[in-house]
This record gives sequence, structure tokens and C-alpha cells, in this order.
Amino acid sequence: MAIRLIKTIDEMRELIEQAKSKERVIGLVPTMGALHEGHLSLIKMAKEMCHLVVVSVFVNPTQFGPNEDLDKYPRDLHEDCSKADSAGGTVVFAPEASEMYPDGFSTFVNVSGITEKMCGVSRPGHFQGVATVVSKLFNIVKPNYAYFGQKDAQQALVIEKFANDLNFDVKICVGYTVRDEDGLALSSRNQYLSDEERKAALVIPRSLNLAEDAVKNGEREIKKLKEMVVNEITKEKLAEIDYVEIYDCPSLEEIDEIKDIALLAVAVKVGTTRLIDNIVLEAN
Ligand code: PAF
Repeated sequence: MAIRLIKTIDEMRELIEQAKSKERVIGLVPTMGALHEGHLSLIKMAKEMCHLVVVSVFVNPTQFGPNEDLDKYPRDLHEDCSKADSAGGTVVFAPEASEMYPDGFSTFVNVSGITEKMCGVSRPGHFQGVATVVSKLFNIVKPNYAYFGQKDAQQALVIEKFANDLNFDVKICVGYTVRDEDGLALSSRNQYLSDEERKAALVIPRSLNLAEDAVKNGEREIKKLKEMVVNEITKEKLAEIDYVEIYDCPSLEEIDEIKDIALLAVAVKVGTTRLIDNIVLEAN
């Protein structure tokens, strides 16, 4: 395996300094590990644009709520290194929690507005944890480009917002959602699903497609589109809706009808697993 594994911030900084002195373009793909094709597509995108591709693998405790899946989140660093290597990563940065959050750590990044809806409501404190850890990664790796998936659309918007507000000198790149052949969006959390739940979860892409087709056929009214999605998901007995929302994109402001581009985003619990997905709806 050619990829280098780095576990300390000092060693990471040293490598970045060397790369910067040679004017190397640096890409960062932040992940929590359990890498799948969605992550690998981001690593491949980074490889096309950058000399040095840092894949961070860090299950960030500050973005999990007290009753969430921090403890059971899948962890396999060896497998992640091998996958990151095969996709063209140069370095895996996998610090321990105590390296990122030493005793006495007390500074957090808070984005207001766009975090006060959707996952921000269902998962209080989640985006504060994400914004804080991604800020730290930006400061450690100093990437020219950083890569995030469209599947976590609200997260990508939050990161774009704080990067811009706080003048981070990094360009945020968002890669398309990668789906299994049957349409289910790839997620590390799909591993939690039983066979029966995996089948039931297909109601998510099916409901998004219904709305997409309706928009293609001229439907613009948000209330009707939301109802369509809710009704479809409700037919599946193993699925429980957390939210179905349609907002203007990228402002995430409330709208009554789609005039230009809107984000249809859903969070659905299938069994005990909470899954999110979204699509962009275009009026023209
Ligand atoms: O999307 C994720 O995997 C995480 O939220 C991120 C961006 C790596 C921050 O921990």
C-alpha cells in the first residue's frame, strides 16, 4: 500500500509545509471512515485536481448526540486506508479524539440560520460539531480544495457558509450522490440495515423520484410536492418520517412554489437507522 497514514497534527502539519513549499495543490476529503463508493468518487475528483490528496478519517464525537450511534459507528482503518489508496489518496489523516479535542478544549464554530432547520432540528448540536471539526481540519491541512457529498446537502451548505464567513482560503467542491443500482443513496449507515429494512429503504429514492417526475410534468406547488413524498413514504410500514422539506436552494429559505431551483430533502428512520437523502428540483 502506497498511502501514508498520519495520526498526529504535528506530522500532518510538517507534510503540508513541505508540500506548500513545493507549491503543491492540496485537496482534503473529510470522512468518518467506513469508506464507500461515494467517498471514493470524492477522492477520485480530488486526485484529478490536486497533487496531494489528504483523506481524513475521524469519527467526530462532537457531532453525535447523546443517544446517537457514536459507539457503534463502523470503524476499520486498515480497510479505509486500502480503499483511499486505490482511489488515489496520498495520505490518510486519522487522529485520535484526544489529539483533536485535548483536555480543556472549549471553542466551537456555530453557524446560525441554515442550521436551524432539517437535521439541525432533529440533531441539536450536530452542525456545531461538524463546523468545528471541519474548521480544525482546514487549519491543519490548509487545503486549496475540500470535497463533500451532495447526499449531505445541508452539511455542504453549512460548510460553504462558515468557510466564506470566516474567510477560509479553500474552495468547497460538492460531488454528486452515488447510489446503488436500485437507487438507494450510499451511506456508511446502510450497513446497519437488515435485508428487510434495506428493501423498505427504497421508498426513499422512490418518493424523491415521484416528486422529480411531478416537477417535470409541471407541478410547482411545494405543499402538493411534499404531500406526494409524505404519502409515498407513509405506505412503507418500516419507515418513519423525521422530516420532508423543500426549500429554496442554496438559501434554504421557505418558498410556496418552485420558481428556480429547490432542494427536496428527507430524513427517514428505517427500523432504528436514520437515513437522509435529497434531490435538487429544477423548475426549468
Ligand atoms: O460527512 C461526514 O462524514 C462528516 O460530517 C464530516 C464532514 C467528515 C465531519 O466529521
